[in-house]
Amino acid sequence: MTTLHNPEQISFASDNYSGVHPEILSALSDANGGHVGAYGNDPYTAYLRTLVKQHFGEQAEAWPVFNGTGANVLSLQACLPRWGAVICGESAHVNEDESNAPQAVGGFKLWTVPVEEGKINTDLIAREAHGYGFEHRAQPLAVSITQSTEWGTVYQPSEIEAISALCRKHGMALHMDGARLANAAASLNVPLREITTDVGVDILSFGGTKNGLLFGECVVVLNPEKVSDGLKYLRKLNLQLASKMRFISAQLIALLEKDLWLKSAQHANAMATRLADGLQQIEGVSLKYPQQANGVFARLPKGVADTVREHFAFYDWDEQGTVRLMCSFDTQPEDVDLFLALVRKAVNGAI
Ligand SMILES: Cc1ncc(COP(=O)(O)O)c(C=O)c1O
Repeated sequence: MTTLHNPEQISFASDNYSGVHPEILSALSDANGGHVGAYGNDPYTAYLRTLVKQHFGEQAEAWPVFNGTGANVLSLQACLPRWGAVICGESAHVNEDESNAPQAVGGFKLWTVPVEEGKINTDLIAREAHGYGFEHRAQPLAVSITQSTEWGTVYQPSEIEAISALCRKHGMALHMDGARLANAAASLNVPLREITTDVGVDILSFGGTKNGLLFGECVVVLNPEKVSDGLKYLRKLNLQLASKMRFISAQLIALLEKDLWLKSAQHANAMATRLADGLQQIEGVSLKYPQQANGVFARLPKGVADTVREHFAFYDWDEQGTVRLMCSFDTQPEDVDLFLALVRKAVNGAI
């Protein structure tokens, strides 16, 4: 096949713009050849189930799926009755970036609350945790939080614990969108279970794609008591049951078996820190939110973004000149330094 892109060109647009980590590609090839059972009846999916228990506890159950929207909608649907609703932040991916899949596919309503630095807390959740027993109101029976958040910030374990206590009080399930869970764990320097199982998360969308997979995420049931035992039927019904599941499982095994998940996330976070530190030293540039994971949200002086964009792709975030810069497992220090040099020059009017 003819290569149709420049494999040397990286961007700061999204951790989805990056390619596949070489160890993941080689896992795909290792899992290839011969015939094994389909739809998860294969030795890779069986081993993944064991690995997920090692990371998240003996009770944890792994359900590989194709993508993050599917993981979120399936997870939440599996926690709710037909009349259920989910409380989440306005900026949550499930609210802003999953079309009307929650409503049309999941069949549940979202009660949104404002966010503070991308996070929600018990006071904000309490604004919508009411109306229990009132038949005219969709019943708030789940909360969804994102770790790390869409704004690049990270929940402390104590913040999640407080949210989970409120959930227990109202009989709500706690879902975590962990598309970037590895980046949060790397940032806090804790094992995965310390920000999930140990602080009362009931169900998790564990991310793979943004951390070097070709594709694939995993719904992880952390508290089976809060999740329907019909999840396996719901996964099929939601079009998330992979026939050749061994290839999603093999990628997740490569991520979780040793410390690839951590190394890749630590690297992406470190590149974001290098970028954030460098940007803050440039006159007229400031951070909109604290940099805590692999995203940097920076306010650039007028005109700078368009000049730098000729060399690197990235997204505008708001009309006040904030841009979102995402780092990946394959972002190199030289890329960051070149980006910083371009911003410096543009600020000085030299380019
Ligand atoms: C916070 C968050 N959750 C979930 C997803 C997964 O989305 P997708 O359905 O594109 O895999 C993303 C991807 O951008 C995300 O940023």
